[in-house]
Amino acid sequence: MTQIPVKSGMPLLGNVIPFVRDLLHYPIQLYHELGPVYRMAIPTYNPVFVFDGDALRDIFEKQHRWFKKSPDYTTLKITLGNGLLTNDGPTWKPMRQLIQPVVFDLGIQTFIRITTDHITRWTDSMPLEGTIDLHPSIKRLTLSIATEAFFGSSVDQMGINMPQLVDSLNQLGAAKMRFPRHLIPYWVPTPLHIKLRSIIRKMDGEIDRHLANPAPEPGSLLDVFLNHPGLSNREKRDELITFLIAGYETTANAIMCVLALLANHPTIQAQLRDEINAHGLDPATFKSWRHQLPLLFAVIQEALRLYPPAWMMGRQATADLGIGRYDIPKGSNVIVDVYALHRIPDYWSDPNDFKPERFMTPLADKMMYLPFGGGPRVCIGQQMALIELATIIHAVVRQFDIFPAQSTIRPAPMVTLTPGRPLSITLVRR
Ligand code: HEM
Repeated sequence: MTQIPVKSGMPLLGNVIPFVRDLLHYPIQLYHELGPVYRMAIPTYNPVFVFDGDALRDIFEKQHRWFKKSPDYTTLKITLGNGLLTNDGPTWKPMRQLIQPVVFDLGIQTFIRITTDHITRWTDSMPLEGTIDLHPSIKRLTLSIATEAFFGSSVDQMGINMPQLVDSLNQLGAAKMRFPRHLIPYWVPTPLHIKLRSIIRKMDGEIDRHLANPAPEPGSLLDVFLNHPGLSNREKRDELITFLIAGYETTANAIMCVLALLANHPTIQAQLRDEINAHGLDPATFKSWRHQLPLLFAVIQEALRLYPPAWMMGRQATADLGIGRYDIPKGSNVIVDVYALHRIPDYWSDPNDFKPERFMTPLADKMMYLPFGGGPRVCIGQQMALIELATIIHAVVRQFDIFPAQSTIRPAPMVTLTPGRPLSITLVRR
């Protein structure tokens, strides 16, 4: 077994300062210095960063049952409760088995219809030529799709300003995750905790209103939950809020990145338009979309490589384990830094360049590409997200030429990786 190298730092503080100063690039710098698996000295935490395919296979697949989610998810738990994303207990598996068929099969045609309706309204509302501020526009679009798919009602019928609320939750959540704030227990009434509580109360009020709905839209997640006799109101609340938060912002960030990248790469945009003009998206054959439109999916995959919305995952070892050729003791916190993993130069040539063609052939090691995680805890919404991305990008590229405005992506590591502000493109109707 190979000894895990350690990046030691200042007394008491360890590497907190360089890490917090540059969350995205410092881990890549240390990869060059220390290799594919290393430990970073961070007080009370000392995470092991893993960029090794075999070790990742052990974490997500072969030995996944010996890992639980790391303490990083404690902050998320404040909002999401015990929903699928944060649930580590015995109820995770039955809940996943209950929800998976809805997300994968039953609801998928409804979801495609909802997405198509919303993007049609969005494109119809665009002027012949105009510059679009992507953040508000795309977030509203994906939130409208999510609220209709999950709650069966339009975002305008929500009793609260949902986009603003979820944005605040993301910002406050990111602040709470930063050292040393994550060490302060949630019951301490700091200004941050008071704000978080107030937002969560408003969200809960809205969810409760939906749970009281006597006639939910057939096929919506709400419908499935309300008609399931075995679920408590708390469980329904936690799953609905998890789906809303996990599903809407991640997808919005990915769509924004694809549009900005296409604006900056006119040749790829033109090639993609040729492919799109030759192939429509027939809902009945959604399982073949990837084969019918390989460049569309390669563009999406490449955007998710460069700017993975779920940019970091954490696990904690519940026993002494071997991962790849490394030993880690029980209690070790493992960080899978997806942003850095996707830019490891030994695996990705020209890692910072937008080159969709790298996804036109199978990857040498699928563990080096984890935008949706892996193993049994892989993103349950992966198929929905790809369908939504494909439908939206297909519609926009078919109807508009996309030009750069303020289209440089400056990724900001919040709870999700957001493409940063300002971000806008110019659309000219074809
Ligand atoms: C581009 C969009 C998306 C990305 C990049 C993404 C990414 C991820 C990742 C990386 C995980 C694994 C987290 C971990 O292992 O710790 C995950 C889990 C999850 N995602 Fe997504 N996601 C996306 C869209 C969605 C959508 C649309 C939904 C809802 C329909 C969703 C719901 C969930 C849920 C419930 C989990 C927890 C699954 C479990 O542990 O059983 N996600 N997602």
